[in-house]
Parts: sequence; C-alpha cells; structure tokens
Amino acid sequence: MPVQQTLILLKPDAIQRGLAAEILGRFERKGLRIVGLKLVQATGDQADRHYAEHKERPFFPSLKQFITGGPLIAVALEGDEAVPVARLIIGATDGRAAAPGTIRGDLALSKSNNLVHGSDSPASAARELAIWFPEGLLATRRSDTVWVETP
Ligand code: RTP
Ligand code: MG
Repeated sequence: MPVQQTLILLKPDAIQRGLAAEILGRFERKGLRIVGLKLVQATGDQADRHYAEHKERPFFPSLKQFITGGPLIAVALEGDEAVPVARLIIGATDGRAAAPGTIRGDLALSKSNNLVHGSDSPASAARELAIWFPEGLLATRRSDTVWVETP
C-alpha cells in the first residue's frame, strides 16, 4: 500500500456553517495524518491555478466567486492510499446524490456548495499541494509526539 499525500480544502461554506471540526474529524478518525493545515483567504490567482482544469466550463466564474468568497482551510493529509481514501470519505460531487455516510452525503444538499475538495490523483495532489503549501509540509509521525506527565 503506497503512502500518499493529498490536498483537502474545507471550502468557505464549511467554515461559514461551522463544520470544520466535523469534517476534519472524519479524516482524522479514518487514520489519515495531518501534515499541513492553514486558514486561507484564497486569491483569484490561487483559485485559477487550483481549478485550472475547469476554467473553460460555464460554472467557472461562480466556482471562483465561491472559493474566494470567504476563508477556507487547506489541509494536507498523509496515509496509505490517502488520495482515493479521502475521495471515498468525501463522496460524489453533488451532495444530493452523494451516498449517506460520506461528508457530502451527510452534510451537503448542493452541487456547487459541497463543503470539501479532495485531490483526484497523486499527480493532482502534488500540483495542488504546491499551490496551497508552497513552503512545504511538516512530517509528523506518532512517535514524534512527546507525552509529559504534569506533576
Ligand atoms: P472538487 O474538485 O471540488 O473536489 O470536486 P469534484 O472533484 O467532486 O468535482 P469537479 O468535477 O472537480 O468540480 C469542481 C467543483 O466545481 C463545482 N461544480 N459545479 N454547477 C456545476 O455543474 C458544477 N460542476 C462542478 C463544484 O463545487 C465542484 O466541487
Ligand atoms: Mg475535482
């Protein structure tokens, strides 16, 4: 099983609805490790680069307005098969069609305001991580945590 990194965005609707912890918790409970996390007001340039594959689509202007319309949380996750596993947890694009048990299936009722982004391939993940974490990521391992008993 290859260890992969993937780029997750908790989109502005997730922050506005107060669902950041709920959504992040689902990835953590699955066992994916947080190796990067930041609250970001996305620029137009970041939106253009992130959604470059959709720039000719009719919905692109509204998608860009949505993703830059408020703060989002960018998260880098690492773990076995992190890219497809995160996509399974997220669910289908349209919240109305997404399976119950998935983030979108449980919490979204829209195709555009669908709470969360996940990279769709390891190549996309590498490209997207460079957009949101140009400074790189922290390597975290359980063994890095030092537990100190308070006296
Ligand atoms: P994402 O990239 O955000 O993780 O979503 P996805 O892979 O499930 O879907 P994708 O096809 O990559 O579409 C990117 C985002 O564009 C918006 N969208 N709107 N109105 C429409 O027909 C439409 N289609 C896509 C959604 O916000 C979708 O997440
Ligand atoms: Mg996509």
